[in-house]
Amino acid sequence: MPVISVPHAFNEEDLYVDLRQMLGQPLFLKCEGFNFAGSIKLKAATEMVESAERRGTITRDSILVESSSGNLGVALSMIAASKGYRFVCVTDSRCNLATRLMMEALGSKVHVVSEGTADGGLLGARLALVRDMCAADPHCVWLSQYTNADNWKAHYYRTAPAIARGFPHLDVLFIGVGTTGTLMGCARWFRNWHRPVRIVAVDAVGSAVFGDPPGRRMIPGLGMSVRPPLLDEAYVDEAVRVEEADTIRTCRSLAMRGFLFGGSTGTVVSGAKDWLDRHDTRGLTPVAIAPDLGERYLDTIYQSNWVQGLYGEDVLLPEAPTEGDGRAGRAGASKGMAF
Ligand SMILES: Cc1ncc(COP(=O)(O)O)c(C=O)c1O
Repeated sequence: MPVISVPHAFNEEDLYVDLRQMLGQPLFLKCEGFNFAGSIKLKAATEMVESAERRGTITRDSILVESSSGNLGVALSMIAASKGYRFVCVTDSRCNLATRLMMEALGSKVHVVSEGTADGGLLGARLALVRDMCAADPHCVWLSQYTNADNWKAHYYRTAPAIARGFPHLDVLFIGVGTTGTLMGCARWFRNWHRPVRIVAVDAVGSAVFGDPPGRRMIPGLGMSVRPPLLDEAYVDEAVRVEEADTIRTCRSLAMRGFLFGGSTGTVVSGAKDWLDRHDTRGLTPVAIAPDLGERYLDTIYQSNWVQGLYGEDVLLPEAPTEGDGRAGRAGASKGMAF
């Protein structure tokens, strides 16, 4: 029975969903949303803050400042509240309402940027504001998840070894990319493991992580409008890209089975299924990482009007349920099935 006195002391590290019946392909989904910050970003936030404390970069009167599309902001809000630091999050108009309200409920200040810069988009505008704040107040400390090695080290120390413990015969690992902290930490760790593991990065169409020109992306979490400084492609075997419409179909299909996951989980599962459909999966052990849960996306991915307005009717059209799906018939259960 875990008993804790600080919120970041608890993180469910050993929960997986077996998606074989739903996908018609083997896939174990590592659920990272069961902690008080509600996402995988708890680990990066904890590592970045505690490492800065050890180095003396953060002192009692520091103001933590960070640019985040939401989940890191919530995790930092929680840790800052617990440790007694002030925290200012700079986000943009794609940040979910629930996420912003959570940060404010935890005592943080939130700046929402709604206009991007010509060359750097909304992210460029966020980073410019962070730089201005740090220049104006010497108490401000920018943790800089995009360049901070403690971001990927969190996954090198925690996420990858946890997966290896659970799946000693792991063959393929599917990882969604934003800052690429999760990808680089896991990829570096598995590079030296006792067996080769194929590292497959999953990105959103419209993201510039792997060098494509940036395009419209409405779902926060995955993807970046610039190339992430942490990325070292020498550790990545393959990158697959997923259309946001497929992300939404997959999220809604999972929800119809009772699993309400966040947007990047839909992206990763959709990309993984596509990859598995193209390969011989007999005897294969594949794992994918689900960064968060679905409550933060109720007014977007799970809101039919929002989906229809941005992606059209097709995304909500019913498709035939997978053969041998094994579930009892349920009115409307086949709505929006991606698999
Ligand atoms: C929901 C969600 N998915 C995926 C990611 C990407 O993780 P990383 O920044 O480690 O690449 C994030 C990071 O913000 C996230 O919040």
